[in-house]
Amino acid sequence: MELWVATSNKGKLAEFRALLEGRGVEVHSPAEISIYSSPLENGDSFEANARIKARALKVFKPTEWVIGEDSGLEVAGLDGLPGIHSARYAGERASDAENVAKLLKMLKIRSPNNRAARFRAVMVALSPQGEERIYQGVLNGQIAEQARGQHGFGYDPIFIPETTSDQPEMVNKTLAELPPAIKNRLSHRAQALRQWAEDQQIFEAR
Ligand code: IMP
Repeated sequence: MELWVATSNKGKLAEFRALLEGRGVEVHSPAEISIYSSPLENGDSFEANARIKARALKVFKPTEWVIGEDSGLEVAGLDGLPGIHSARYAGERASDAENVAKLLKMLKIRSPNNRAARFRAVMVALSPQGEERIYQGVLNGQIAEQARGQHGFGYDPIFIPETTSDQPEMVNKTLAELPPAIKNRLSHRAQALRQWAEDQQIFEAR
């Protein structure tokens, strides 16, 4: 099966490929379509933006599975920001490091003692027949005082995922300090993609 994922984010694509590895799914991206240009993400929710991306790519791949994914970090002490603005929090062409620096600065000013946060991902999947299905994932955690770790992308160096008592090796580690395989077991994106894959009987339902 071919799956077209409407993203130019290399970190996200690597996660999609890792999650579906060995499952008979070839993951493609718009980078393979020379005349494709990314749509304006002017929706007011993750779902609206995921739909904009999915539909823009579906024009080029009408008979294939297409997934549009939108995700971001919601910080309680910042009233849910950066949310849908996560990629551009520190400005239109901001780097991951600039976004992280702005978030740490804003949290220090606004709410240094409430560091609760969550990653959210929403996927709009369009089938070869043109039907739409929506999948979501949430990963709860805390914002670290400082960036730590080299793995992943985006806000991974400042996000400490919630752990359970049987995961002592994860305590107080940021996503960027944890091996990518662990992030791919837990992440908001993995949760949403797993549901799509279960619906396609690519993964067994849990
Ligand atoms: P999008 O490509 O417009 O959906 O932007 C999502 C942005 O949210 C990314 O550029 C990151 O800044 C952030 N983000 C989403 N998922 C993750 C993740 O798994 N780790 C770190 N940052 C993420």
